[in-house]
Amino acid sequence: MARVIISSAHASHKLQVVDDEGNIRLRGICMCGLSSNLPFCNGSHRKTEDEEEGVLYTYNESGEREECSVQTELQE
Ligand code: FES
Repeated sequence: MARVIISSAHASHKLQVVDDEGNIRLRGICMCGLSSNLPFCNGSHRKTEDEEEGVLYTYNESGEREECSVQTELQE
């Protein structure tokens, strides 16, 4: 099943988690939708760092980026 995830996040959300030994660690939760290890960040968000403002992109299953041509305003 395929789905479209629209996100403007370029980094993970950090959570403090306690492991089985009681150690507190930071875990990154994916906010960009590109991680192959969801819900955790795997660094794939770095691919989004040079995205241009106002441009919509898609990423295929190989992580390759393409620019979309989406009409955002109706023209009369
Ligand atoms: S925030 Fe999505 S991979 Fe890091």
